[in-house]
Amino acid sequence: MADLRSNFVGIKSPNPFWLASAPPTDKEYNVRRAYEAGWGGVVWKTLGAEGPPVVNVNGPRYGVVYGADRRVLGLNNIELITDRPLEVNLREIKQVKRDWPDRALVISLMVPCDEDSWKSILKAIEDTGADGVELNFGCPHGMSERGMGSAVGQVPEYIEMVTRWVKQYSRMPCIVKLTPNIADIRKPAEAAKRGGADAVSLINTINSITSVDLDLFAPQPTIDGKGAHGGYCGPAVKPIALNMVAEIARSAETRGLPISGIGGVTTWRDAAEFMALGAGNVQVCTAAMTYGFKVVQEMISGLGQYLDEKEIALSDLIGRAVPNVTDWQYLNLNYTTKAQIDQDLCIKCGRCYAACEDTSHQAIAMLPGRVFEVKDDECVACNLCVDVCPVEDCITMRELPLGETDPRTGRRVDGFGNWTTHPNNPMAKAAE
Ligand SMILES: Cc1cc2nc3c(=O)[nH]c(=O)nc-3n(C[C@H](O)[C@H](O)[C@H](O)COP(=O)(O)O)c2cc1C
Repeated sequence: MADLRSNFVGIKSPNPFWLASAPPTDKEYNVRRAYEAGWGGVVWKTLGAEGPPVVNVNGPRYGVVYGADRRVLGLNNIELITDRPLEVNLREIKQVKRDWPDRALVISLMVPCDEDSWKSILKAIEDTGADGVELNFGCPHGMSERGMGSAVGQVPEYIEMVTRWVKQYSRMPCIVKLTPNIADIRKPAEAAKRGGADAVSLINTINSITSVDLDLFAPQPTIDGKGAHGGYCGPAVKPIALNMVAEIARSAETRGLPISGIGGVTTWRDAAEFMALGAGNVQVCTAAMTYGFKVVQEMISGLGQYLDEKEIALSDLIGRAVPNVTDWQYLNLNYTTKAQIDQDLCIKCGRCYAACEDTSHQAIAMLPGRVFEVKDDECVACNLCVDVCPVEDCITMRELPLGETDPRTGRRVDGFGNWTTHPNNPMAKAAE
């Protein structure tokens, strides 16, 4: 099978699947079992500075968004960083790393934004033999109110400053974990790069309220009648994370900066998508919390099989889709498709008709006997009928070949033409 060995910023692991910093990596017992299950690495649950212990709520920590089959689509949490004593964590990390030298062990850190706090914790971290540090500038609740977590991650100058301290006081690779709770993800990534970060990881969780208890009139999870916003993760956040990873991968300022992709990775396919968009490895939290550590086995075998089928190495996958991510203005407006319905597969439910007739372009006809047919002269190829059809491959999009005329617009499909050169674009006209 394909060689899945990974080298991320000099940190080696037998595969590119790491557990993200969260409850699955909170203690020695978990991490040992994760390694036994096959995880290539872990980012240890975020450690804080020495001092009064962190206090978590003693009520429910999670809110959930379910799919129709009660599958967890989105998970919201109001948990803080580790509430276990620093010296216990450090002792366990040292032991685990000694026993599992071939696995990656990165330590997530969040300490107050002053030089001495960072200097002193880094010394203690180096003594454990861990492979690197991940700076948690992402947690959106609890710690941010104390000037840490996303309170740092939302201010590029702070990111740069702290990253510089970390690189100054430690020889370890430094991964800066970014918050998605920001307008332009490229800015914190650029700041991390300026500060000397070896890599960025993203995304941490998204500010969220998952639901409201309509008897208590309070957000869920509800703690004694009140709720607070939490951090959202799981399959629902994957599209947001993929876009942010791609933004960093293709930006001229951050191109080449290694990325650890996080957010909703549940299957090998999710992981492959992150990698194709530029992630050198991936981190997983919700999938492990939902299905257990053994989910990594599907990821390992699935990715290996995919690479074998494609006859490419893992390194060839990384970033392979980045050149195909572009801005809207560069899309080919001459490319033309039409929906087509496979009458043998159609179950006559009429969803395509309802969607198109009521909300879109009135491009599907309902004929006697509930036969649904696409009207090519009305179809704008929006794809909504494909999206709402409950039968896979029943409705597909057919590409009009070069030379054919679009019956809707009367325009011949004759090659490439994007908005930058389009006759309706006043800017293009001005340039003429
Ligand atoms: C309960 C819980 C606790 C978390 N704690 C931390 C943490 O201490 N440090 C951190 O950097 N991220 C923390 N995260 C965020 C995850 O590491 C990860 O970035 C996020 O969950 C997205 O990945 P996922 O969609 O695979 O869950 C936590 C997530 C959850 C669900």
